[in-house]
Amino acid sequence: MVSKITVKAPSSTANLGPGFDTFGLAIDAFYDKVTLTKTKKGISIITDDNIPTNPENNTAGLVVKNMKKKFKIKNGIEIQIKKGIPAGFGMGSSAGSAAATAVAFDKLFNLKLSSNQLVEFAGFGEKASAGTIHYDNVAASVLGGFVIVKTNPLNVISINSPTDLRMCVAVPKIDVPKKKTKVSRGVIPEKVKLVDSVQNLANASSIVAGFMKKDSELIGNSIQDVIVEPARQHMIPGYEKVKQNALKAGAFGVTISGAGPSVIAFSKSSFDLKKICSAMSKGFKSKNIDCQTIICKPSKGAIHQKK
Ligand code: HSE
Repeated sequence: MVSKITVKAPSSTANLGPGFDTFGLAIDAFYDKVTLTKTKKGISIITDDNIPTNPENNTAGLVVKNMKKKFKIKNGIEIQIKKGIPAGFGMGSSAGSAAATAVAFDKLFNLKLSSNQLVEFAGFGEKASAGTIHYDNVAASVLGGFVIVKTNPLNVISINSPTDLRMCVAVPKIDVPKKKTKVSRGVIPEKVKLVDSVQNLANASSIVAGFMKKDSELIGNSIQDVIVEPARQHMIPGYEKVKQNALKAGAFGVTISGAGPSVIAFSKSSFDLKKICSAMSKGFKSKNIDCQTIICKPSKGAIHQKK
């Protein structure tokens, strides 16, 4: 019987513009590592990172608590977390730990859960940071690549990405509010105009077509959101400049990564990606903000680390 499992899960970008709470894409920018060890009783968290260690407020803790209860597991669990994904920047940090935890728990107790079940359990972790459960980041982190989340009942559809799809992510060095996702979900309009909904629907459908046709340009050109991005962009200083600069440097489309404040530009491998990154940096610099830029591509999902 195994008593210890380590799983590594990728960062992710949610929404991809018009696909609010529906689209997710795992990206190879950062990874979280979670090790679960069977103990006699209770749930304990060990980490060197600046995250809550009370299991009730910790993404991984909530996933373990719910899975233990559901599968009537008597063992205790020690959760060791090594964060690689920066927390609070729209890179799917809580989802990365939640996904790694759900996949590790499944392996540790040989549950053989389906991907939909794993995503559902990982979703409990999102409640710790977002206040509500949304599955776009966790689905991407569990399955890897591009995912479409259908709810009621939960069904995650994944589509392989074009091999030349590349993203430039700019992570600004700014203070983010505690419970940032909750805050940034609070600024979204409850009602939307039909014309706006039609525009987002057309763009979202085109993104899906782009993945199906392995057409990075169609994906990138369709990353346009007239509902959520306009409501949130004031929370990111210099956003408009970062976006315009990236578009001028050749990006097909630019949007907020998840709930922000990171900004993500979509492009392809044959383009000058460094130029896009430096254009984005200059955009943030116009507001005296430094940023980290990363060129990335779609990542595989959460995987068991053998050693
Ligand atoms: N779809 C979610 C949101 C992702 O935009 O609020 C949060 O990471």
